[in-house]
Amino acid sequence: MKFLSKNLSKIKNKTVLLRLDLNEPVDSNGKLLDDFRLQSVLPTIQALHKANCKIIIMAHRGRPDGQWQTEFTLEPIAKRLADLLAYKFVATDSKITDYPINHVVFYQGSILESSTKQQIEQCETQNIIVLENIRFYEGEEKNSASFATKLASLADVYVNDAFAVSHRKSSSVVAITEKLPSYAGLLLEREIVHLDKLLGARIKKPFVLMMGGIKISDKAKTLAHLGAKADRILLGGGLANLLFAAQGKEIGKSVYEESSLPLAKQILLNFKEKIVLPVDVVSGTTQRGQIVSKPVYQIKASDNIFDIGPKTILEFSQYLKSAGTICWNGPLGFFEKKPFHTGTAALARVIGGVGKRKAYTVAGGGETVAAVRETHQFEHYDHVSTGGGAMLEYLSGKELPGIKALN
Ligand code: 3PG
Repeated sequence: MKFLSKNLSKIKNKTVLLRLDLNEPVDSNGKLLDDFRLQSVLPTIQALHKANCKIIIMAHRGRPDGQWQTEFTLEPIAKRLADLLAYKFVATDSKITDYPINHVVFYQGSILESSTKQQIEQCETQNIIVLENIRFYEGEEKNSASFATKLASLADVYVNDAFAVSHRKSSSVVAITEKLPSYAGLLLEREIVHLDKLLGARIKKPFVLMMGGIKISDKAKTLAHLGAKADRILLGGGLANLLFAAQGKEIGKSVYEESSLPLAKQILLNFKEKIVLPVDVVSGTTQRGQIVSKPVYQIKASDNIFDIGPKTILEFSQYLKSAGTICWNGPLGFFEKKPFHTGTAALARVIGGVGKRKAYTVAGGGETVAAVRETHQFEHYDHVSTGGGAMLEYLSGKELPGIKALN
């Protein structure tokens, strides 16, 4: 694989088609709710700028299925990019040229128009062109070679800095690499280096894997692959509920993925020595908003499990504090709703604390990243992955199509 970091001199002054994953949460009023992925690719944008490259950004948002649906526009993200770079923002469906330097030019028109290439050629190098949602084009998710040819005609070089979508076989991720000299961007390189450490043989022991969230079907392969390497597997959230159900325990009305019960029984069997399940849980709040916790064996049919309880926080903390390596994915409770964020937030802090001192710490997944950031622990982790599904697939030992294509 050719890394951008080692080849910047080769691509000086070139036009670069830069694939990013800017699939950030946006509310129904078009307000951007988070910019973690955007912040994570700024070093790449700055490095390309320094090399005097003309940058054309392609990215997706949501799943518009090849239809031009404006509710999935990339505009709020392109605007935030302009803010972060202290550039002016302009949105246009016709003119890419004509703006003085230091503009983010958000091109709402179609690149299938014959004039696009010429306009890009005439655009100031110091401007950044952001194309409208690449999934508006039918060819993108079909990994169409002809769409890739069209994309490639706009630039000299391709850079993939979109780890989070590298598990998808799309034109702007896979087919494009057949058409242009292709490089792995700085963020993609960082993701690979850190995640490979978790998969490698020289992992610092004890290795503690902590997982939560609801859908075990999305995480089963990762749990199987990393679980085999782990010394302890701490489980919370819907995953723990499912395993309780598989053990025949009462979980009341708690969320769990019922269809995965056979899978859960298998996991319990394979990892029975390693799995640590909560000993107590939060089943509600008092009228004054204080949490009500109880031992798992006291859960009744009318109860709902919202979070791990204080004893579990303590027990999980002890495992985490003695770890040499920690990998964490998925919240341990109903993190979005206070005070049921307590268990997840407490352990986000514990991992930050051990990360500061000695352990090698990696976290990933939407709510997990939110917990790390909201508890101000971000800089204490060795790596916070931008990948959701992509991180899980990578850690299940699978070669991602976008990475394979670069190889
Ligand atoms: C993500 O947010 O995980 C990536 O952008 C991939 O999105 P997708 O699941 O819609 O392909």
